[in-house]
Amino acid sequence: MKYSSNLFFFSFLLIIITTIANIRATTGDSPHHHLEKNEVSEYYSRPTKLFVFGDSYADTGNLRKSLASSWKQPYGLTFPGKPAGRFSDGRVLTDYFAKFFGLKSPIAYTLMKMGGNNNNKVRNGMNFAFGGSGVFDASGNSSPNMSTQIDFFKKLIMIKINESNTIYTKRDLKSSVVLVTLVGNDYAAYTARPDATAQGLRSFIPLVVNQLAANLKRIKEMGACKIVVTALQPLGCLPQMTQLSSFKQCNATQNLVVNYHNLLLQQAVSKLNNETKHIHHSIFILDLFDSFTTVLNQKGDYQGDLKFETPLKPCCMGISRGYSCGSVDGNGTKMYTVCSDPKSSFFWDALHPTQAGWRAVYMVLKSSLEQFFKFY
Ligand SMILES: *[C@@H]1O[C@H](CO)[C@@H](O)[C@H](O)[C@H]1NC(C)=O
Ligand SMILES: *[C@@H]1O[C@H](CO)[C@@H](O)[C@H](O)[C@H]1NC(C)=O
Ligand SMILES: *[C@@H]1O[C@H](CO)[C@@H](O)[C@H](O)[C@H]1NC(C)=O
Ligand SMILES: *[C@@H]1O[C@H](CO)[C@@H](O)[C@H](O)[C@H]1NC(C)=O
Ligand SMILES: *[C@@H]1O[C@H](CO)[C@@H](O)[C@H](O)[C@H]1NC(C)=O
Repeated sequence: MKYSSNLFFFSFLLIIITTIANIRATTGDSPHHHLEKNEVSEYYSRPTKLFVFGDSYADTGNLRKSLASSWKQPYGLTFPGKPAGRFSDGRVLTDYFAKFFGLKSPIAYTLMKMGGNNNNKVRNGMNFAFGGSGVFDASGNSSPNMSTQIDFFKKLIMIKINESNTIYTKRDLKSSVVLVTLVGNDYAAYTARPDATAQGLRSFIPLVVNQLAANLKRIKEMGACKIVVTALQPLGCLPQMTQLSSFKQCNATQNLVVNYHNLLLQQAVSKLNNETKHIHHSIFILDLFDSFTTVLNQKGDYQGDLKFETPLKPCCMGISRGYSCGSVDGNGTKMYTVCSDPKSSFFWDALHPTQAGWRAVYMVLKSSLEQFFKFY
């Protein structure tokens, strides 16, 4: 989850990027695709479960307490009122995404106790996302990578709760929606390497996207019909980066790297969607780049209920270098400050939005989700 701030200057990317005008992530499938009569009801029925894979933008409590700032004060201040494993003052992307489908936010995998009556708890699906994870093993942390998260899920499909039933069936997966987040931990791990170079990063980006595409394909082959995957948010706008400019401006150079990732992701997803002709099976890109940028430029949400006066400045931060939101010294003294009203900040800490930030992002994403998921 740490982004190194010294390694994103790549003039070669300028050359690539100038050839790519405005990248808008879209699905490869046309919404006006012809539907067979018997397909209609399934395509338009609401998903009954949500399964989630990914990182801290989606984690709702999987990362172990001893490892995670998300289980420390002042995380969770707004919701649920105490630290509970979300990397925010309150709700995160998963919660708003579930809401879109009329589902409760699914239970975090590690918080589910095996045995006993779990029917109610697992009914809305399950969240396998771990803060700090990537598609590869991020150095210096023990979060299970995305492949391992998918393995956890695969095991659950096979575990029998009694002679005839498993916790989840293939049929459940067919009527589910899957959310996959990947917000930059692989790149943070790469740039933290002592041997990291600009050239090396350039060759690493396609490897990350290819592994992500392989994971999406695997989820699809397990039977998931609707998969939503995040495009990278503007990394150059995260407080960790903008503190160099006293939170005044995004680092445009770093955002070019992000655009390259997002372009490759778009190509990979188009290819996957093209491979499956079946209308039921499709992958949709959730454009966190566009939605973050829109909210940051507007300095608030659509309706104007929320105003983020200094949108690049986080609500919670360490009192000096070496401390971050949630840091305490040996005597337990707080080494961070929290703004008086988290609703007035887009960012919560150096990397993650506040609940109000996520809500504003969700309002932007909602219309594209509505175009992709048409319900009765
Ligand atoms: C943007 O990031 C690059 C690499 O981290 C750095 O060299 C450059 O100084 C930054 N630019 C600004 C305006 O902060
Ligand atoms: C994911 O983690 C597992 C377990 O540590 C490891 O065996 C596997 O190679 C990793 N996968 C990738 C793509 O890095
Ligand atoms: C197995 O569990 C399911 C779900 O709880 C239940 O509906 C079913 O009746 C059970 N079957 C047997 C044979 O116990
Ligand atoms: C889609 O697949 C067909 C053949 O299956 C191929 O001819 C076409 O180029 C593909 N399009 C894209 C965008 O990959
Ligand atoms: C803890 O408090 C004591 C007494 O005020 C002080 O001497 C000591 O330096 C503090 N330790 C830390 C780690 O701040």
